Amino acid sequence: MRKPLIAGNWKMHNTLVEARALVAGVVERLDESADVDVLMCPPVQLLFPMAKAVVGSKIMLGAQNVHEEQSGAFTGEVSVAMLKDTGCSHILVGHSERRHIFGEMGDRIAKKVRAVVQGGLTAIYCIGETLEDREAGRTMAVIDQQIDEVLTGDIPADQLIVAYEPVWAIGTGKTASPEQAQEVHAHIRSRLVDVYDAGKAEKLRILYGGSVKPGNAASILAQPDIDGALVGGACLVAEDFAAIISAVLTAA
Ligand code: 13P
Repeated sequence: MRKPLIAGNWKMHNTLVEARALVAGVVERLDESADVDVLMCPPVQLLFPMAKAVVGSKIMLGAQNVHEEQSGAFTGEVSVAMLKDTGCSHILVGHSERRHIFGEMGDRIAKKVRAVVQGGLTAIYCIGETLEDREAGRTMAVIDQQIDEVLTGDIPADQLIVAYEPVWAIGTGKTASPEQAQEVHAHIRSRLVDVYDAGKAEKLRILYGGSVKPGNAASILAQPDIDGALVGGACLVAEDFAAIISAVLTAA
C-alpha cells in the first residue's frame, strides 16, 4: 500500500514570524503516530529556520523550485546542493505557476527533475491541463505530453512523486470532482507502467492538487489512485492543514 502524503505549498506567503506560528499550530494538532507523511514547502529563505521549527515532529520540508545547474553565474537562483544544505528532502518541479508565469518549458523541467534526483532528493513533478485543454477534450493528451517530455525509466521511481494539479482548479475554489480526478490519476498510473513497470508504478505516489480544503479532502483522498494532496491556500491555516491530514486517515 502507498503511504499517503499531504504536502503544503506555501507559495509566496509567510514571513518568519507567521511561519513559526503556522508550523507550531500544525505540530500541535498532528498525530505523530498516524500513517501519513507530511511535507511543508515554504519559500526558500524560510527553509533553515523551519528546519529548526519542525525538529521532533514528523514534518518534512521541501522547496518550491530549483535551478537545474549545480552552480554558476545564475543570479537569484539556488541549486539542489544548496537546498540539500537546509535539510529539505523534496523539491516541487514544474508547478503550473512556474510554467505559466515564469515560462518554464518541458526541456528545462526535465533537467530540473534530473538535477533533483541526481542530488539525492525527491522530485514532486507537477502536471495538469488548463481549462481550455479540458474543454477541448485534450486533458489526457496534455498529461501524456507532460509525462513523455520529462519522465524516463532512468529516474529512480523511489525519488519521484507525481502531482496532478488541473490548472483550472488552482486557487479558484473549483475542484475536480473525485471521479474526474480519479480518472486522470488512473491514466497517469497507466502511463507510469509504460515508463517503469507495473510493480514500480503501483508504488509511486500521485498527489492531487487544486483547491483541496477540509470539506472536500476526504472524498478526493478516498479515490484508489489518489495518494495524497498538494495543498495551496488551505495549508496556510494550521487548523485547515491539520484537518486535511486527518481527512486522509478517515478516507483510507
Ligand atoms: P490551491 O490549493 O490554493 O488551489 O493551490 C494548489 C496548488 O497550486 C498547490 O501546489
